[in-house]
Amino acid sequence: DWTMAEFRKTKLEEIRAQVGDGKVICGLSGGVDSAVAAVLIHEAVGDQLTCVYVDHGLMRLNETEQVVSLFRDHYNIPLVAVDAEKTFLDGLAGVTDPEKKRKFIGGAFIDLFEAEAKKVGGADFLAQGTLYPDVIESVSFTGGPSVTIKSHHNVGGLPERMNMELVEPLRELFKDEVRDLGRELGLPEGFVGRHPFPGPGLAIRIPGEVTKERCDILRKADAIYLEEIRNAGLYDAIWQAFAVLLPVKTVGVMGDGRTYDSVCGLRAVTSTDGMTADVYPFDASFLTRVATRIVNEVQGINRVVYDYTSKPPGTIEWE
Ligand code: XMP
Repeated sequence: DWTMAEFRKTKLEEIRAQVGDGKVICGLSGGVDSAVAAVLIHEAVGDQLTCVYVDHGLMRLNETEQVVSLFRDHYNIPLVAVDAEKTFLDGLAGVTDPEKKRKFIGGAFIDLFEAEAKKVGGADFLAQGTLYPDVIESVSFTGGPSVTIKSHHNVGGLPERMNMELVEPLRELFKDEVRDLGRELGLPEGFVGRHPFPGPGLAIRIPGEVTKERCDILRKADAIYLEEIRNAGLYDAIWQAFAVLLPVKTVGVMGDGRTYDSVCGLRAVTSTDGMTADVYPFDASFLTRVATRIVNEVQGINRVVYDYTSKPPGTIEWE
């Protein structure tokens, strides 16, 4: 008889057996997966764990505050918060290729964790909230065993020089199971139910070059979209909803003036594991309301489109 309570017990023993009296460092992304992994590992080995939250400047509006408060106030688990916006945005300057963005961000995360590991006197283990679908999709897709669709930033191992072993307690789980485990571990419902957010953050929702200005524009549009989704009571019916900012300018008219600004795309899908997805069928009036608000309230966007592509053939993220 398999329950989450038993899974938790088994995993706690496995983690203790793997880690011994070693030191673990865990990167928090702001998402459910890394939060659940961190809370579980903390329960297993206590202050042998150091949690590191890297703010890469590619987070959604107010996300950093929410993560920091979950760990420091709700759990009282010590957390090192690193402000690395400049490092990431400098490194992304001029980069437009999606895989190059992903590789750079993955590498920069590793460098920062390595630096934090040194500060705690050398960590022996790096913990990640890798899920089963992450493992599969980085290896292959239904297209065949040699096709990489996207390099998920948290899969693929560590550089040799790091001399750290991975701890990935969620590697067999699907998202809904991770949420159950999160509830079992006492994570607040508002956090457990959060839509997935990719490690590379807004960088892969801004096709073309990523700049602070474009991140700020996207954060505003995304926040309006999600606010409307919550107000309509639709948040929990949707697997993932987000805005993207396109590197395309179109002409519009506002008041009696001409505008020439960027296009914002809206995405919303239903799914059970992220591996396939269906488009969420909003009412036209809902989309009209969101589009009107975004164009009126966000400087830099003058047109909004809705993405009607399922996965496959589309992926959920645009890069
Ligand atoms: P795609 O775009 O591949 O996304 O259909 C499937 C699910 O995975 C998330 N995703 C990521 N999560 N690191 C992550 O932690 C990544 O590099 C990454 N890329 C995509 C995506 O948001 C969706 O939930």
